[in-house]
Amino acid sequence: MKKPKILIARAVFPEVVAKLEQHFEVESNQADDIWSKAQLISKLRDKQGAFTTGGERIDAELLAACPDLKICANMAVGYNNFDVEAMTLAGVLATNAPDVLTETTADFGFALLMATARRVTESEHYLRAGKWRKWSYDMFAGADIHGATLGVLGMGRIGQGIAKRGALGFGMKVIYHNRSRLDTALEAECKASYVSKEDLLKTADHLVLVLPYSPASHHTIGAAELTLMKPTATLVNIARGGIVDDVALAAALASKRIAAAGLDVFEGEPTVHPDLLALTNVVLTPHIASATLPTRLAMAHLAADNLIGFFRGEQPLTPLNAAALAAK
Ligand code: GLV
Repeated sequence: MKKPKILIARAVFPEVVAKLEQHFEVESNQADDIWSKAQLISKLRDKQGAFTTGGERIDAELLAACPDLKICANMAVGYNNFDVEAMTLAGVLATNAPDVLTETTADFGFALLMATARRVTESEHYLRAGKWRKWSYDMFAGADIHGATLGVLGMGRIGQGIAKRGALGFGMKVIYHNRSRLDTALEAECKASYVSKEDLLKTADHLVLVLPYSPASHHTIGAAELTLMKPTATLVNIARGGIVDDVALAAALASKRIAAAGLDVFEGEPTVHPDLLALTNVVLTPHIASATLPTRLAMAHLAADNLIGFFRGEQPLTPLNAAALAAK
């Protein structure tokens, strides 16, 4: 029988490419070229499946040009690169890669919080620049993590992981806000109390953003929200660029309206706004929260298994629109 044709849109683990080659006629991109939309369309035109990594926009225009496409499997938990509604209309299954990255990503959220609050990278740059001549009592004095109030905005699996690390590991008081409140048992497990968004902004010493990006969450943190925060507060974004208004944040950091920020994601990444790059009270990392080799490998295998299972007629492992497709 003829194998279905799939496209792997970015370079991935060779062993995952090899596994997919056992099941599919694969066009891969191990050179890791960044394709324009027109290039992506031309490569996907004759394919039945796509392995995407979160950066490739799958929308109505692409779907109309690629009528054979049946499934797009994202190697990411976030899927704001998918227009899921358009995919459902076109009869295309969307899958993402949740769960396997939860603990790794929560670890990184905490690492970024610690680095930001305790000024780790700023002080390292100072040392490397040869500026360290003597000890002084307030040199790079930062904010305490232990015993402080941790705010989590977006209390999905990763948010819960951060809450547990804060409460159980660092004795933090944890407050959270989410579209829907967790049930009592889960709140108790996370030792987290539900508050309004306004109270979260006003009360948190350290605020970590872990909510998914959608048009509704665009600029959830802008000038008005930053004004509500404590001047001593730390803001950490490991969610998605666009959830924070980067220009407003840079202004708030420059004027010390808030103390510091740790950002793993940016509006328009991989370009980072020059106002952020010019500041010392912000820790900047290149979207690496899930980046440990075992976790990235597990994410890649999950995306591959979604493709393999789909073409075998099995239930998708981590579908985004299976119910909507079934109801069509
Ligand atoms: C990473 O940002 C992901 O969505 O998996």
